[in-house]
Amino acid sequence: MTRRAIQGCRAIVTGASSGIGRALALELAHGGAQVVATARRAERLAALAEQAAAGGHAIETVHGDITWPATRAALLARARERFGGLDLLVNNAGAGAIQDFAQSDERTLRQVMEVNFFAPVEMIREAMPLLRAGRRPMIINVASILGHRGVPHYTEYCASKFALVGFSESLRAELYDAGIDVLVVSPGTTQSEFFDALVADQPGVGRRGETGVPVDRVARAVVRAIRRGRHEIVPNSEGRLLLWLNRLSPRLADALVRRFG
Ligand SMILES: NC(=O)c1ccc[n+]([C@@H]2O[C@H](COP(=O)([O-])OP(=O)(O)OC[C@H]3O[C@@H](n4cnc5c(N)ncnc54)[C@H](OP(=O)(O)O)[C@@H]3O)[C@@H](O)[C@H]2O)c1
Repeated sequence: MTRRAIQGCRAIVTGASSGIGRALALELAHGGAQVVATARRAERLAALAEQAAAGGHAIETVHGDITWPATRAALLARARERFGGLDLLVNNAGAGAIQDFAQSDERTLRQVMEVNFFAPVEMIREAMPLLRAGRRPMIINVASILGHRGVPHYTEYCASKFALVGFSESLRAELYDAGIDVLVVSPGTTQSEFFDALVADQPGVGRRGETGVPVDRVARAVVRAIRRGRHEIVPNSEGRLLLWLNRLSPRLADALVRRFG
């Protein structure tokens, strides 16, 4: 395990206008990291930068859709110009869809895959030169419990997060010799705007975010994992229980997710 200090780290955080990404950008900035934060909502990013400035920290912002190559290029150009190298690349932007598969369509599947899988993968590909110039660089991919265990009505979302988890495992082994770490964060239900920003939403199906872990707790767990050089974390006890049960008795887990998922 590689231990690293947050102080002085040069970081990009995607999906930083709300939820986990926003909390993580602030947590990193409070720890002394230099952060470039991105998302589509410019006014939310401006509020984030203001909040950081009020605490004596600087967060730079670049707004745009992360699925657009031009947004990723602008983000990386800013990091190159300000930092020269990149120590932490946090791929957190994500979106869900909750509906019966039979009611879904190709557009929804492609949109979810674009945000949750293709964008982070291309972000990493394009950031490789900056990461290679980083100090103990780490890629942090925010997946989900649902990237390890499928549940009903989340077919597109589960597929996208399983893809991200598999990609991350493969990449971690591949980048080992280059000294670039890959951390997979798999939150369970978290109190954020996630359930208000679904790509597709069929009333009456799927679990909603009425309970869940506060985003600050997830952000602190991620920062701890970065410091400790962890490879995987599940910052939610309910999620850890589900994964443990799924390994121990997949049939029982099947029955439970059919009943409660
Ligand atoms: N909440 C949960 O229960 C939960 C559980 C497991 C995993 N996760 C994962 O955690 C991550 C963060 O989600 P959250 O819970 O914090 O939800 P959130 O509050 O809705 O945050 C999602 C972030 O992603 C950004 N985003 C979405 N689509 C984008 C796009 N096309 N281009 C650029 N930015 C985009 C949003 O910003 P803009 O709208 O301003 O673009 C927002 O900043 C996601 O990857 C999600 O899948 C969440």
